[in-house]
Amino acid sequence: MIIEHVTTSPFPDQKPGTSGLRKKTAVFQQPHYLENFIQCALTALLSARGGVLVVGGDGRFYNRTAIQTIARMAAAHGVTRLLIGQGGLLSTPAVSALIRKHKAQGGIVLSASHNPGGPEGDFGIKVNISNGGPAPESLTQEIYRLSGEIEQYATIASDDLDLDVMGSLQLGEMQVDIIDAVSQYADLMEHLFDFGLIRSLFDSGLFHMAFDAMHAVTGPYAREILEHRLGAPGDTILNGEPREDFGGLHPDPNLVHARELVERVNRPGQGLDFGAASDGDGDRNMILGRDMFVNPSDSLAVLTANAHLLPGYRNGIVGVARSMPTSMAVDRVARQLGVDCYETPTGWKFFGNLLDQNMISLCGEESFGTGSDHVREKDGLWAVLFWLNLIAVKKQSVAEIMRKHWSIFGRNYYSRHDYEGMATEPAGELMNRLRSKQAQWVGQVLHGRQVTKCDDFSYEDPTDGSVSEHQGIRVLFGDDARIVFRLSGTGTEGATLRVYYEQYVPTSGNLDQDPQAVLQHLFEIAENIAGIKRLTGRERPDVIT
Ligand code: G1P
Ligand code: ZN
Repeated sequence: MIIEHVTTSPFPDQKPGTSGLRKKTAVFQQPHYLENFIQCALTALLSARGGVLVVGGDGRFYNRTAIQTIARMAAAHGVTRLLIGQGGLLSTPAVSALIRKHKAQGGIVLSASHNPGGPEGDFGIKVNISNGGPAPESLTQEIYRLSGEIEQYATIASDDLDLDVMGSLQLGEMQVDIIDAVSQYADLMEHLFDFGLIRSLFDSGLFHMAFDAMHAVTGPYAREILEHRLGAPGDTILNGEPREDFGGLHPDPNLVHARELVERVNRPGQGLDFGAASDGDGDRNMILGRDMFVNPSDSLAVLTANAHLLPGYRNGIVGVARSMPTSMAVDRVARQLGVDCYETPTGWKFFGNLLDQNMISLCGEESFGTGSDHVREKDGLWAVLFWLNLIAVKKQSVAEIMRKHWSIFGRNYYSRHDYEGMATEPAGELMNRLRSKQAQWVGQVLHGRQVTKCDDFSYEDPTDGSVSEHQGIRVLFGDDARIVFRLSGTGTEGATLRVYYEQYVPTSGNLDQDPQAVLQHLFEIAENIAGIKRLTGRERPDVIT
């Protein structure tokens, strides 16, 4: 029985950003809010009745409720088959893999990524398309357009589904499969990496690691892969149980929020060889060695330089891509390998087209995101396994691998400074001032360095010619130093200004310095040209990565 509901609350109050729709949980709990979004998303995604859809989330508060709502609406919409991860859990990369494997029309991921969850926290919805990747701008625009017209949505009356028992169910005329996504994902990883070799690392008893699942979605995946399939000891996984409030933690894999992991890796006398963490929905990764934090931009460069050593990439890579603010370390590797290196705007969706056209094999962002052509999302555990496989092949520590890399390519010292929770107006004013003044800096000498190029980054997608403008202000000093300014597109409160700094030091220089010290002169230039302190009243950034 299909029931039509007349909507009463308008949706949305702003366009969906780079990562779908992300709001305070309470916003999603308003009557009809979630339903309005889902109705528009289903209409935009599925042009006709029928089709397969994948749904799951990172387990945060409201995940289960939202899944029940989506299932009823999918049944009313005429979806033939709905795949749901057991317990309503699916990591973002697992959704991507499932869409591809089952030739689904798309998927819905319930997550606000690394933002805290709970009734006071954030909730979010991401829509993925049939290639397994995030919705392109044309689709999010269509959802937004429909949201201005929606008058009613359709659902069915039914009891809640039991999300915890695997098997097939019937919901109206739709088949619902509650699936074991963990083992399907683990199979895919086993296909890409040399599990036998990684297992021998653990069997040796000489290699010790920890993985911090941050009480988010990757716990079950990490347990299956690291402990069950690779033989890592039972205490390898920290915070392994998914919880609705992430155990009160902030599921963001960085040096601040994964402090327990950082301490364990560097514990004097009994430190670990390897530490890693992933975020709420399992697409980000942080890699640590003893006394060595692997900058995500460097991680992409190392993976690119060494991919051919791993089974899934044995034939070499066809090309690589990085988001614009990501350091240019990988560019040097691509040049040496003789493959193309694409510079895209921030956000994963731009990589999808390049991957679909087989123009790149690997891609990554400075924000702890790395991935490859195996799915169309960044993939946290994939990056962890890539590093483990590399360590097993090279029989070197993380620090040795990094130092060796810098000794060949030189080092791109890099840091990102975030100014969070700013009032929207001064943040916008700061960017507008930079935008209007950038042209006059070209050729000028700032702090003894000449500006060679300055622009508001725009990208023309080589696969479809679409253009994305105003993606951030770049100030380049030759090809060895750079400052980038942009506003975050994922925050739920106020504005966040991100300033990215980079200084290249060649192999003949000092490759073992503190990045903040090396970059100091760029901090001064940034203050000079942007007036961050004056315009924002902030003495220092809230987060330094
Ligand atoms: C942030 C990251 C960006 C990433 C996005 C989604 O976006 O900077 O690289 O793609 O989260 O995970 P931002 O808040 O900077 O717009
Ligand atoms: Zn995420």
